[in-house]
Parts: sequence; C-alpha cells; structure tokens
Amino acid sequence: MTLFLGATRSASVPVHLIGFHVAADGTRLYDRLALVIEADGRVSGQVDRIAERDGVPRPAEARGMVMGEQLALMLEFSDGSTTTEAGVMLDLAPEARRHGAALVGRIAGQAAPDASSDGESAPTVQPYVMAHAPAARLDRSPTHGWGTVLELPVAAGETVLGIFGPIGARQTPYSFRTDDDRHVEPTGYGHFVNHACEPSCEIVYDSETALPTLVALRDLAAGEEVTFDYTRTEGDLAGAFDCRCPALVHKV
Ligand SMILES: C[S@@+](CC[C@H](N)C(=O)[O-])C[C@H]1O[C@@H](n2cnc3c(N)ncnc32)[C@H](O)[C@@H]1O
Ligand SMILES: [Zn+2]
Repeated sequence: MTLFLGATRSASVPVHLIGFHVAADGTRLYDRLALVIEADGRVSGQVDRIAERDGVPRPAEARGMVMGEQLALMLEFSDGSTTTEAGVMLDLAPEARRHGAALVGRIAGQAAPDASSDGESAPTVQPYVMAHAPAARLDRSPTHGWGTVLELPVAAGETVLGIFGPIGARQTPYSFRTDDDRHVEPTGYGHFVNHACEPSCEIVYDSETALPTLVALRDLAAGEEVTFDYTRTEGDLAGAFDCRCPALVHKV
C-alpha cells in the first residue's frame, strides 16, 4: 500500500499512524492512531496516548478532515467526569517521505491542571510530528511493553521503516547509534522497536541521509514484530535488561 494521507481516495481507507509531541511539562507523548479516511476527506478513529515514562495508554476519540494539503484533527480525551480536547494541524505537502518520514505540524490544547492551580490551565501550543510506515503499526509486544508490529507482509530485503528524530550526543534506551557520540532519538515507530537475538530486521544506513532504516532479513508475515539485534549497532546499551525474546539463547 503506497497510499498516503494527501492521496486521492475513492473509498474509505484505514490508516495507522504514530504522533509525537513533548508536553509543556517535558513529558514525551506518543499517540497511536487508528484512523479511517473517507473518500470525502472526513477522518475518524481511535487514539491511545502513551507517555514515555510509564507506557500506560490514555484513550481518545479522533475526528477531523483532510483539506487540501492540511489535516485537521480534534482529539477528545475523557477521564471519567472530565473531557479535554486537543487540536492537531498537520502539513500534508508532498515532500519526500521515504520510509515513513514524518508530517510536521502543531498541537494545541490544555495542559493538565497542576496541584497548585484552581483547576484551570493555560492553553498550550507545541510542535507535533506524525509518522506513517505503511507496513507497520504500534501494538502490544509479547516480548516487552509496546512493540512495532507488521500490519502487512514484507519481502526479504524491503525497508520496513525509517528512523528519524532529533540527533544528539547522548545514548538512551530508545536511541539509535549512527556514529560515536551521534544518536537518533526516534519520534516515530523506531521508539518502540524491541531487541531480539534472532531479529526480523537489520539496520541499514540510508545512503543519502545516513539515518538508520530497518530492513527485513527474511520474508515477514503480517503480525510479526519488527525487531533488530541491539548489540550489533548500539555498543554498550544505555538501559540494561534481561532479554525475553523468543530465541532459546540470548545475547543480552
Ligand atoms: C526502544 S524500547 C522498546 C519499546 C518498549 N517495549 C516500550 O514499551 O517502551 C527499549 C526497551 O524495551 C525493553 N526491551 C526491548 N527489547 C527487549 C527484550 N528483547 N527483552 C526484554 N525487554 C526488552 C528494554 O527495557 C529496553 O530498554
Ligand atoms: Zn533474546
């Protein structure tokens, strides 16, 4: 499937996306979106907002519209008695989006009220990034927490997704090393790719951008998890863990 949001549609189309922004209090938030885009441009669906610190999903309803080269989405979060809304506006202009490179835009909404306030909170506007990798979605992993899982089969040697995000000198449990003291902190599906000792994918560095991409090591079926062997590219891991991948012998 090569369809992207800005493409012409003649029928309703389901699409999985991952959105990212940093909340006003510094929390990194990942939105797992399962949307349906109607032929007339109307958009609706479900969102789970996953905070990096605990991985607990917070559900929201999404509705919106593709209008020319813009996507407007309203996210409505209901926590029992309170409802909060956030508006996302994204630029769909057809620049290069190889391997699921991101759409950029802004999210406007209310910051969570803090304990010292009287329940009111100031509106906030933050940059928002949204990624689409046609073959992938975010889902629970049998190995650990959330994982990136195949929505469609992928042939051996095909690129499954690209890794992109801010580049810095610090290695983290989520970052991808591209060189000594150069690590990409992924804002898309890469953030959720688990390690496996017999992985489904390997890292290949893009010849133009030098950014990592994940390439299928064999023919992969829908439902398989996108994994790579952290030990081949990351050196000493930033976060130690006891490997729970399906392999019988573990490297980590
Ligand atoms: C890039 S994150 C992967 C996404 C993670 N599953 C989540 O829900 O946030 C890397 C972290 O996931 C966990 N992890 C990844 N692969 C694992 C594995 N094979 N066995 C156990 N834990 C793993 C470790 O805590 C590791 O530091
Ligand atoms: Zn393992």
